[in-house]
Amino acid sequence: MTIPAPDDAPVWIGHDLPPIWRDGVEYFLLSARNELYLIPNRCPHRGGPLKFGRLNAAGELVCPMHGNAFSVETLLDNPATLRLTAAP
Ligand code: FES
Repeated sequence: MTIPAPDDAPVWIGHDLPPIWRDGVEYFLLSARNELYLIPNRCPHRGGPLKFGRLNAAGELVCPMHGNAFSVETLLDNPATLRLTAAP
């Protein structure tokens, strides 16, 4: 399993990475804006696993449960999203 450098694609999703848990919340890894983020793996509609969604032609993440699409910017701006930094 290789995690691509953030420059390899505008948006990259860690579909095949193991679940990432923090404080009882499951996250998935997403690369965008040349940064790495932990995004809550819970669709705002009815809790579907966004991690297994796909990016559509508009660059939105399409939930695998009911097909609602969410802009990556919306996901990044979610207060529950965590931006990873090099500092501990
Ligand atoms: S749970 Fe994601 S679109 Fe319904």
